[in-house]
Amino acid sequence: MPALTINGSIRDVAVPDDMPLLWVLRDVIGLTGTKFGCGIAQCGACTVHLDGVPVRSCQLPIGTIGGRAVTTIEAIGDTTTGRKVQQAWLEAEVVQCGYCQSGQIMSASALLAATPVPTDADIDAAMAGNICRCGTYVRIREAIKNAARA
Ligand code: FES
Ligand code: FES
Repeated sequence: MPALTINGSIRDVAVPDDMPLLWVLRDVIGLTGTKFGCGIAQCGACTVHLDGVPVRSCQLPIGTIGGRAVTTIEAIGDTTTGRKVQQAWLEAEVVQCGYCQSGQIMSASALLAATPVPTDADIDAAMAGNICRCGTYVRIREAIKNAARA
């Protein structure tokens, strides 16, 4: 029964160590903001942070997490950078269907926390693994730049 630190709370979950974090978040704990897209670490819809680093939760067995802090879309707005990113997303009206956007915001927040004034190349590198079927990439880039200026 691993204990996980999720959004600042310690959660004991009675599941096998090899269960992916995404399943624990959505089906065990009920944090459904993180989305299932491909299930094979290729789309980024399931992105969360582990100690501030973006990871694909669909391919992350909970037994490998240890004491690292998990942050999901439900709590990213509690961080200064996450709050700026979410505000910039609203102002740029980034979202279309929305399915990919939790992952996009988590990747963008990690980028700006590590690189407060990213270049286009930095943005490309950080966001390359987050796919948007609605093609919101231009607005995502604009929102990241606006968040960096905020
Ligand atoms: S659902 Fe995890 S990367 Fe696609
Ligand atoms: S907004 Fe629809 S998949 Fe990205």
